[in-house]
Amino acid sequence: MSYSLIMANLQETKELAYLLASLAKEKDVIVLTGDLGTGKTAFTQSFAEKLGITQRIKSPTYTIIREYQSGRLPLYHMDVYRLNGDTESLGLEEYFEGDGICMIEWGNLIEAELPQDHLEIILEKLPDSEETRRITFKDSGNRSQKLVKQLKNLRK
Ligand SMILES: Nc1ncnc2c1ncn2[C@@H]1O[C@H](COP(=O)(O)OP(=O)(O)O)[C@@H](O)[C@H]1O
Ligand SMILES: [Mg+2]
Repeated sequence: MSYSLIMANLQETKELAYLLASLAKEKDVIVLTGDLGTGKTAFTQSFAEKLGITQRIKSPTYTIIREYQSGRLPLYHMDVYRLNGDTESLGLEEYFEGDGICMIEWGNLIEAELPQDHLEIILEKLPDSEETRRITFKDSGNRSQKLVKQLKNLRK
């Protein structure tokens, strides 16, 4: 199933991230797909805020992974853009099997390494305005399908 929404501005994207964070459970794997500047890190910041994480979420562009433990659940925030395929050194399995949530910017680049069931969020800029985004949720298994259904219900 895929579910698309149009966000008119950053505030709308934030509210969507809050909703998803209220639904998220341990071992959820969320992949953020979209060009530079579409809002992958911004989405993660609001998601983390709703989890109750108090630290500032910095883009893990160079560190690849940052862990945050101060919220309702641990958050493993990754940006695999600069990984160049070297996924072995990351020990991804431990994060996927850990007791937190994985939020992976550019996760589509490591598709083969991802658990089969993950939620993909595709962010696209639209020509309407600098702040308009199309955000599409795509499921790939039971858990991600449940998340998409719950999100849809909450948005009604
Ligand atoms: N509707 C929107 N949703 C998300 N971000 C938006 C929106 N409108 C404007 N922005 C801005 O776009 C930028 C997105 O940057 P960032 O989150 O770092 O992108 P990415 O991580 O995808 O490279 C931020 O400066 C954010 O404030
Ligand atoms: Mg980013």
